[in-house]
Amino acid sequence: MSISSLRRSLPMGFVLFFAWSAFAAEMPKLVKQDGRYAFLVDGKPFLILGAQINNSSAWPTSLPEVWPTIEAMHVNTVEAPVYWEQLEPQPGKFDFSNVDQLVKQARDHHVYLVLLWFGTWKNGKMHYVPAWVKTDPTRFPRVIDSHGEPIDVLSANAPANLEADKRAFVALIRHVREIDGDQHTVLLVQVENESGSLGSVRDFSAQAEKQFQAAVPAELLKALHKQPGTWKQVFGADADETFAAYSVSHYINEVAAAGKAEFGVPMYVNVWLKHPVGQVPGLHYPSGGPTHNMLDVWKAAAPAIDMIGPDIYTDESDLYRLALSTYHRPDNPCWVPETGGNDVDGKYFFYALGEGAIGFSPFGIDYTGWTITDAKPPAIHTENYALIGPMNREIARLNFEGKLKTAVEEDGHAQTSIDFGKWQATISFGYPQYDGGRIPPGTKDHHGRALVGQLSADEFLVTGVDTRVEFRPAPSASTHMQILRAEEGRYENDQWKFLRIWNGDQTDFGLNFTHQGKVVRVRLGTY
Ligand code: DGJ
Repeated sequence: MSISSLRRSLPMGFVLFFAWSAFAAEMPKLVKQDGRYAFLVDGKPFLILGAQINNSSAWPTSLPEVWPTIEAMHVNTVEAPVYWEQLEPQPGKFDFSNVDQLVKQARDHHVYLVLLWFGTWKNGKMHYVPAWVKTDPTRFPRVIDSHGEPIDVLSANAPANLEADKRAFVALIRHVREIDGDQHTVLLVQVENESGSLGSVRDFSAQAEKQFQAAVPAELLKALHKQPGTWKQVFGADADETFAAYSVSHYINEVAAAGKAEFGVPMYVNVWLKHPVGQVPGLHYPSGGPTHNMLDVWKAAAPAIDMIGPDIYTDESDLYRLALSTYHRPDNPCWVPETGGNDVDGKYFFYALGEGAIGFSPFGIDYTGWTITDAKPPAIHTENYALIGPMNREIARLNFEGKLKTAVEEDGHAQTSIDFGKWQATISFGYPQYDGGRIPPGTKDHHGRALVGQLSADEFLVTGVDTRVEFRPAPSASTHMQILRAEEGRYENDQWKFLRIWNGDQTDFGLNFTHQGKVVRVRLGTY
């Protein structure tokens, strides 16, 4: 079933017409073609314009403070936690009321959902496990650190922990099938949250020690092209962390696989990132999580996990881009399940699109007062989603076909270029712009951003913010560019609607985009 709704008018004075299907007839899935990924919703590439609500906001009493932000920000998919302590308050007794409300209210608000399973791990700790687990360490063993002290992390090396988490997760996924198996409001499930252990590099309990002293499992050796031996013999100085990564990924794989046996919704894990230099596992980041140095271990040991998404919290562009490219691999799509919700983080959405992202999701998006204190949606993220939302399917399709490129302004780089082979585009940031090739001024906070999609050999979809886009033939060509037609239009229900032709001052020195959310399709020729 498809629902169209007229969304609120934008502050910049024009009205966008949004149409969201809150339900999909087909199971969502990830597909790969020619080395690129798409996330299919109803059989077509879909871009997740996500937002994650605050940790304690997935309660029915808090949801009224969630939806106004989600609507104002033009989000199409909400990420919301499911808490093990709430789902299974007593062993084997399940309470699905939070999940039921999430699914119902998401549908009422015409958005999709990503459910985040806060089970054994949440930010490298065990804070979301039920009290009956926390109070019974004999039955549910904790990680024992190298001094012999228990820490507040459940052990990945204890079968009883795995069985308890698995049973709860299976109950959750079975329930999702029952209430959503034909509608697919739930697009994805995140298994655990920022897994691994903070407080110890690995479990040093007697049980774990026995596993650590044994031979490395053959399937891991094969995947990593290593020779047989004990963990210490095979991995040397990295043995503790690698053992932890194998233990955690194997555990999470078992949880995910059991869930998938109930219902085949795509599943992923998120990552508390390890800084590229100088950080200690278990001290600066949860040891055993899918950090960049452990990605191959995770890929080998967790085949039931469809993708691994980095939680990227940095305002250093270089680090941001490094995280995007590190986690975008032939065996892993680019997916940003969490990122900063501030204005400085807004332009990174364009870097993610340029990296082929299937989705992007700022954190802390609700009006509970924890992250947003002025009851206003984050301005730049909102501007991005308002711009891209109406052409969601077109952008996702272009990216899947490798025909989308973006440019982002950086300090000291007010001009850059995008290369489409036969055609190139000069991208100039900031206004006023000058005619005749002078260097543009840039913007004060370097927020300029542009997107160019190739629709056919000589036709491009162009948009951006505080940017000018000028096309030219490749330097090797002995021809000149002429614009044959520059159409301003807008997407409605993902269909292009013509508004007017740009010419004269609107095209003579490039296509200009400020904060009005304009979109242009331009056909180029040569003479
Ligand atoms: C990352 C975690 O995954 C979230 O649940 C939340 O704790 C944020 N950090 C807070 O910045």
